Order: sequence, then C-alpha cells, then structure tokens
Amino acid sequence: MARSQARRVAVLVSGRGTNLQALLDAVAAPDYPARIARVVSNVPGAGALARAEAAGVPVAVIDHRPFGKDRSAFEAALTAELEACGAELVCLAGFMRLLTDGFVARWRDRLINIHPSLLPAFKGLDTHARVLAAGVRFTGCTVHYVRPAMDAGPIIAQAVVPVRPEDTAQTLAARVLVEEHRLLPAVVRWWAEGRLHPEGEVVTVAGAITPAAGLVNPTA
Ligand code: GRF
Repeated sequence: MARSQARRVAVLVSGRGTNLQALLDAVAAPDYPARIARVVSNVPGAGALARAEAAGVPVAVIDHRPFGKDRSAFEAALTAELEACGAELVCLAGFMRLLTDGFVARWRDRLINIHPSLLPAFKGLDTHARVLAAGVRFTGCTVHYVRPAMDAGPIIAQAVVPVRPEDTAQTLAARVLVEEHRLLPAVVRWWAEGRLHPEGEVVTVAGAITPAAGLVNPTA
C-alpha cells in the first residue's frame, strides 16, 4: 500500500515502549495499512522515544508535570499535538496518565488501550502479582476502546496464556507481553482495514476467525 494511503496512528507512551516497537515493526511491512504519524510521551527520556527516533517516526514530549493538577491543560496540549499530526486513531501503549472524560469523549471510538489482563478482571496496576495471588489458571491481555473509567470500554480482542505453578510476576509478565506484541498490531491493522464496528459495549470484528475449542489448565 502506498504510504500516503496508510491510515494515521498516534501512539501515547510513558515507558520502555515494547508495544510501540511491535507497532513500528508491523508498519515497516509494505502492505501494512497504517503508519505511525507521531509518538507522544509524557515522560522525557522514556525508552519508547528512542525506539521511535530509531525508526524515523516524529516524537513529541509533553511533560505533564509543569501542568500540575490541571489535567485539562495537559490534555489540550496533547490534543493539539494529535491534531497537528492528523491522527485518526490514538493508541495508548503503556501511557501512565489517567485521561479526563473530556479527552476520552473527544476521541471516542478512536482511542484504544492495551492492558495486560483479561478485562474486566484485574484492572489497574500490579496486574500479574494480583493474578498470581488470585490463583486463576489463565490470564492474558486485552485491547479495548477507551471509556471514561480506568481500563474500561468495549473489548476488541484478547489473547490468553496459562498461569504456571512456578510463575513469578516477572515470568508471567513476559509470557503475556509476547501476546501483547501480537495483539496490538493485529488490532490496529483491523481498524485500518475498517473492520472494527463498536456498538454499545460490543465490538464486531468483520471477517474475524474465532477458536473452536477451549483450553483446560491444569490437565493431569
Ligand atoms: C504493557 O504491559 C501494557 O499492556 C501496559 O503497560 C505496559 C507497557 O509496556 N498498559 P511497554 O512500554 O509497551 O513495553
């Protein structure tokens, strides 16, 4: 696909940016239907910025700290940056600021997030430690449209991984992260292909294939 036809995605980051890297790798394929128009970090020096720069993607840093408690002013700066780059989709990939209802409404159905659990279970931080403490046998990751409450909104796709008896939060995080890196570029592709149809709380993915069988963990 000609780059000029590719849909424009902005990615908001705060940290190391491995999910951003998965997107950068995906958009490098000539037939990928989206491109990354801008990477915006609220954290100066975030590892994600170096990844974007290495891939030749324009970056912006909007440090939230000078804005103090004024989230709206911070988000106005964010929106100005997103509009300037012509973003059609905004992707939260490890973006660690809560967004106001106003910002979420402004980008409704054009704002997605990746979270390392099978939502609606285990919203919030320290997901993997809480998964282990709860003794569940499967966990995973979710890409969803963003709504005002934290880690809430219509689910687009999920990936599942087993929890193993010897797992630590670190080993579990690493297993989930492998799936995050598959899921996010896939969802962005479907969006760019016009295949995502949110309606109320339910998203239809046109042409999607669903696994036929379930999994059991453990088996003996
Ligand atoms: C990921 O686990 C993502 O699901 C969560 O924050 C983490 C970001 O990791 N929202 P990275 O910066 O993409 O490596």
